Amino acid sequence: MEGARSYMSKTYRILVIDDEPIYHKMISHALQPLGYEVEFALNAESGYLTAQSTNPDLIITDVIMEEMTGYELTQKLRRDSRFAQIPIIILTSQTELADKLKAFEAGADDYISKPFAPPELIARIGVLLRRYEAVAKAAVPPVKLEEPRIITVHSLRGGVGCSSIAVNLASAIWELWQKPTLLIDSVLTAGQVALMLNISLKRTWGDIANYKPEEIDYDLLDTVISKHKSGLHVIAGPTTPAVAEMISVPSMKTAIDILRPYYEYIIIDTQHDFSEVTILMLDIADVIIQVMAPEMASIRAAVAAIDTYPQLGYDTDKVNLVLNRLFDQPGLEQQQIEKALSLPIKMVFPYAPDLFIRAINLGEPIIYDNPKSYVTSLLENLAYNISKKVHKTTPPTNPTPTWQRVNKRLTQKRRLMG
Ligand SMILES: Nc1ncnc2c1ncn2[C@@H]1O[C@H](COP(=O)(O)OP(=O)(O)O)[C@@H](O)[C@H]1O
Ligand SMILES: [Mg+2]
Repeated sequence: MEGARSYMSKTYRILVIDDEPIYHKMISHALQPLGYEVEFALNAESGYLTAQSTNPDLIITDVIMEEMTGYELTQKLRRDSRFAQIPIIILTSQTELADKLKAFEAGADDYISKPFAPPELIARIGVLLRRYEAVAKAAVPPVKLEEPRIITVHSLRGGVGCSSIAVNLASAIWELWQKPTLLIDSVLTAGQVALMLNISLKRTWGDIANYKPEEIDYDLLDTVISKHKSGLHVIAGPTTPAVAEMISVPSMKTAIDILRPYYEYIIIDTQHDFSEVTILMLDIADVIIQVMAPEMASIRAAVAAIDTYPQLGYDTDKVNLVLNRLFDQPGLEQQQIEKALSLPIKMVFPYAPDLFIRAINLGEPIIYDNPKSYVTSLLENLAYNISKKVHKTTPPTNPTPTWQRVNKRLTQKRRLMG
């Protein structure tokens, strides 16, 4: 129990909302001896009012309550700026995957199924409060920088690995330089970026839906940006297609224009189309990563994209072809593909279902879950290759492990090539 107590720099107030008094008793029995203050409410409505009057540091809510479910209550709390970011745990007797997804979509941080062991609840509360404090402390006003390098990942065909590559590249760039890096999910219908990073959907592009471009400012955007535990910043896609409908592309453009000077790198995952939002993301790109699989339909989609880019004014020089071996068969040969596209392939990712699928299910990018894998070395090399020249030419004063690995590989390669 010492461990739990040691992070308590102040007295935390926990609000428990559950219609079964036995849980009030159980939770306060576990938490009060550790120095927590515990408040209770027996239904969602009074829970909402109690939250307003007591300003809790963390909320635990049951799912099944009479007039409002725990999911609805969580959504309602998230819309109030005072409760937009605080940790919320959903307690439920259901253990289905669908319920876990619902909790996540509602904007909860964690999910515990009943019955639970008090030490587990205590541990999870500790983790969430520590993370919340660390993020709040880290929220110092950012410094204005030079222009960012913007890297947009695109493919006209879905399911080829765009989101996986965008998430891992952004993480690898952040780990290489530790310079302000923003990952943007511009997939407005069922974006996967937040899921792949296990980021709760407290804030998404949906939060700018009610603002006109001229009403958007840095302070508003700061609340839309999620801060991943690594230090990477993320703007998540909206949770539902209905919300997506309400987001205007000019507002997204204004948002990115305001954010530009605060980041060294912006990595963007896109929809598999040439919609208005995708064109915006391609327009602002310094580097386009075009992802394809070694099969006919995917190559056709890549040809169509690459033929269209010059018509939209994008220089072919900024296109980086990436071949992703999505399946266990050899598929089309690299040379054939390069000939068909009249462009060299910059990188080939091997078939690695264990790594890619595990990463999605865990919400942990491959570069963190499997730092020693071959796929990680490729991702790190690609991240390095597309980084700013000034970063590549000035060795960092405090080189990160990622930078050291890339540097070692580059030195070996140079030695081999004489
Ligand atoms: N190299 C690979 N080997 C095996 N599976 C992969 C590979 N790359 C991606 N996948 C899997 O393919 C699916 C689609 O990936 P995703 O990144 O969501 O693609 P997109 O964003 O293009 O739709 C995911 O299930 C992912 O785990
Ligand atoms: Mg995707």
